[in-house]
Amino acid sequence: MNLKKIPKKLLLKGGKIFDPTLDKLKKADILIEKNKIAAIGQKIKDNNASIIDCNGLVITHGFCDVHVHFREPGQEDKETLATGSLAALAGGFTRVCAMPNTSPPLDSPEAINFIVDKSTESPIFIHPIGAVTKDQKGKDLTEIQGMIKEGAVAISDDGLPISDAQVMRLALEYTSMFDIPVINHAEDECLRNNGVMNEGDNSIRLGLKGNPSLSESIMIQRDLELANLVNTKIHVPHVSTSEAVSNIKRMKKINPKISAEVTPHHLYFNDQALSNYNTNFKVAPPIRSENDRKALTKGIKDGTIDCVATDHAPHTIEEKEASFDMAPFGMIGLESCFGVINKILDLPINLIIKLITKNPRRIMGFNNNLFEIGSHIELTIVDPNLEWVFNENNIYSKSKNSPFIGETLKGKVLYTLSKGYLADLNTKN
Ligand code: DOR
Repeated sequence: MNLKKIPKKLLLKGGKIFDPTLDKLKKADILIEKNKIAAIGQKIKDNNASIIDCNGLVITHGFCDVHVHFREPGQEDKETLATGSLAALAGGFTRVCAMPNTSPPLDSPEAINFIVDKSTESPIFIHPIGAVTKDQKGKDLTEIQGMIKEGAVAISDDGLPISDAQVMRLALEYTSMFDIPVINHAEDECLRNNGVMNEGDNSIRLGLKGNPSLSESIMIQRDLELANLVNTKIHVPHVSTSEAVSNIKRMKKINPKISAEVTPHHLYFNDQALSNYNTNFKVAPPIRSENDRKALTKGIKDGTIDCVATDHAPHTIEEKEASFDMAPFGMIGLESCFGVINKILDLPINLIIKLITKNPRRIMGFNNNLFEIGSHIELTIVDPNLEWVFNENNIYSKSKNSPFIGETLKGKVLYTLSKGYLADLNTKN
């Protein structure tokens, strides 16, 4: 990646502009001046401007990921705010929400302030998510209002479920005053029974302990009932089962404040992929059956699932080299996301883009008018048809735990423009 400051004057020439907010695709040039949109129109000329030839390319909002793990503070051997930002830029993401399961967890206003402060100079926007409970122990609520004041955009104990239904109810009641979502990692720990992969024929064949679909769907149903009781926002992360999709579809009819995400890996793989015991496939919730994968795809297409989020979860090679039972859960996902979903979902490019722009921004209440004259530049330029093989050179994360290495993807991010920076992904390094 070639990362530099956006030139004083930059002309994006000949591209197709897709504005996900207006749902409009049009061919036009964009003139950028002092990091702001100066003009959008046909055949703009400016002899002083640097030019990016965007013929055949689509220019759209910078991508937004509501679910990443950047590991700072405490696990900087896996990822830092700096390396996570580069991974995001490589994937076209200009804005991410960082989960609080750091070490120590982001469970206080001071910890939220640390992330906000430290990411001021980052080339992307990093929004911290505060923990629901102190030390993510699932018992005592954190200082939610104080964390929101410092910049927390949601609360979650992600990585761990909120097992106690009363704690979940209180979290929903408290956040209803601030209009931010509660995000619960829904896995019933008793039913999960220390499972390391989806429970089914494949877990029996591989001799690995299974985690049944019900561990997810039962807790999602509980959470949705609670959110309905309180009449408040809830965001369901990394949906993995067909039963959960049905639950969300049914409950959304009653409570329009429900939103849901799915990861690229749950859309792309099924549990047969685990046959070679590659620990990069070990994630929580687990990669499920083909039937579940198809239900998730259908859920995206009928609007039950609002957005795609990567659950970018870096782990070191040493940890991932452990046996399947012992290795940690998680895979990275920022760099491969666009090529993966654009390939596997087989949807028109405008619908693919909305899943990683307008919809996640709406869920988090971020500005969705990025093509207005005078707007600060937060744009991504993609070639939607380019087929390419994802390899280690495409990874900017500190960790390389991706099962997509070697996979042919469709659609590539070529430029990301964010916070005054221009990331050029045409170059290999
Ligand atoms: O696979 C996962 N890894 N799922 C999670 O929810 C947490 C994440 C992590 O932090 O490693």
